Amino acid sequence: MKRILILHGPNLNLLGRREPEIYGRTTLAEIEEALDLLARELGAELHFLQANSEGELLAALHAAMDWADGVLINPAAYTHYSLALRDALAALSVPVVEVHLTNVFAREGFRAQSVTAPAAKGFVAGFGPQSYLLGLRGLMGLIGGS
Ligand code: DQA
Repeated sequence: MKRILILHGPNLNLLGRREPEIYGRTTLAEIEEALDLLARELGAELHFLQANSEGELLAALHAAMDWADGVLINPAAYTHYSLALRDALAALSVPVVEVHLTNVFAREGFRAQSVTAPAAKGFVAGFGPQSYLLGLRGLMGLIGGS
């Protein structure tokens, strides 16, 4: 059983009612439910955290250094400017996959830069909630779990 940390950055707790024309109507709880179902198939044990503060995300990543086999993260707006998050991701010796609901390259110019992606092994964007499921499959492939 591979142990995976799933991190959701700021404002993702509002999924379902946050700009639904952009992010859709699926809630974070529904995404996590779908991930848990897939995890059962792939032999993964998922640990979820959504945080609106950078410090909480960093603390979870530091703790994950002692237990996680991989990290799946949607850093949300921190993607575009959090060097602290990038450094925490880079400190991990296990693979990281970055996911986004939307195609960040097809939106406002400031979203086209990800400062966190260089610390990730894989990147999935633009598939809505499916981005998470594709990301988990990819991550499990990277860590040799499936
Ligand atoms: C997002 C894209 C980011 O630019 C934005 O700040 C988000 C969500 C996505 O999943 O598409 O909060 O990470």
